Amino acid sequence: MVKRVTTLLLATAMAAILAGCGSGGATSSGSGGDDKITMGFAQVGAESGWRTANTKSVQESAKAAGVELKFSDAQQKQENQIKAIRSYIQQKVDVIAFSPVVESGWDTVLKEAKDAKIPVILTDRAVDSKDTSLYKTFLGSDFVEEGKKAGQWLVDQYKDTKDPVNIVELQGTTGSAPANDRKAGFGQVIAADPKFKIIASQTGDFTRAKGKEVMDAFLKANPKIDVLFAHNDDMGLGAIEAIEGAGKVPGKDIKIITIDAVHDGMQALADGKINYIVECSPLLGPQLMDLSKKVVKGEQVPARVVTEESAFTQEQAKQALPSRKY
Ligand code: AHR
Repeated sequence: MVKRVTTLLLATAMAAILAGCGSGGATSSGSGGDDKITMGFAQVGAESGWRTANTKSVQESAKAAGVELKFSDAQQKQENQIKAIRSYIQQKVDVIAFSPVVESGWDTVLKEAKDAKIPVILTDRAVDSKDTSLYKTFLGSDFVEEGKKAGQWLVDQYKDTKDPVNIVELQGTTGSAPANDRKAGFGQVIAADPKFKIIASQTGDFTRAKGKEVMDAFLKANPKIDVLFAHNDDMGLGAIEAIEGAGKVPGKDIKIITIDAVHDGMQALADGKINYIVECSPLLGPQLMDLSKKVVKGEQVPARVVTEESAFTQEQAKQALPSRKY
């Protein structure tokens, strides 16, 4: 009897140990959990309301999905992101995710990750590497499309006039995918009518402070500005301060189009200070966790996952504001 009970206990213990090994070769990186994976996430920085919401989404989703998250903030510097990625490689994390500050200059470090057999997921922003085997998937918005939506709104607004429309543009971080693509998409649409003229275009680095500073300079140098196209809400909000400081009425004397639709931007839209916002969703966390688990298990994932987004007029902002999540 004693022998039978001992055998049963041993068999149960063996089964528990085997179950603890997990399946499909997913590594646990010493985090203790069976299917628990460790992700190294190299964030751009904390430059905007969008970025803060994105960081929150990644951190909360990691927690909910049981993913151990190692998080770093690159303070908008590529060299800091490269350092963070190298440190994740050294720590042998299961998967690396990052939102590249700029598009170029990633091949070497991505090759190092590939050689170490650590899958990489691009989130939010793309890289311009020719070798697409350096990363498993790219999850994020279609920035060209966002720029096109902004341009189309403008074309529709001014369809009944032949007068010149003077536009100033606040670009995002120089060399970043959203700055390059939004500029391109917007430019493609307004190029159809020569009355649209971009009379000044400069980077505001996606920040409120820079947006104000550059808009101040635009206002001093250009007596007639009809439209501001800002590549994100934060720069637009900074520009509103500059416009008010110059004694003009934002949304009326100067029409304003921005991208993101974060809470403060939507509030300014509802208040009539911004005229149109194209949405760019920062809530990438849940999809990122799903994709990570799949790539760590060696499952196939789509090469590109595009975020679903819309756009808002002033009236739509008033309705949407109470239920906005960011
Ligand atoms: O990459 C997404 C962009 O980066 C957002 O539009 C902007 O607000 C952010 O800083």
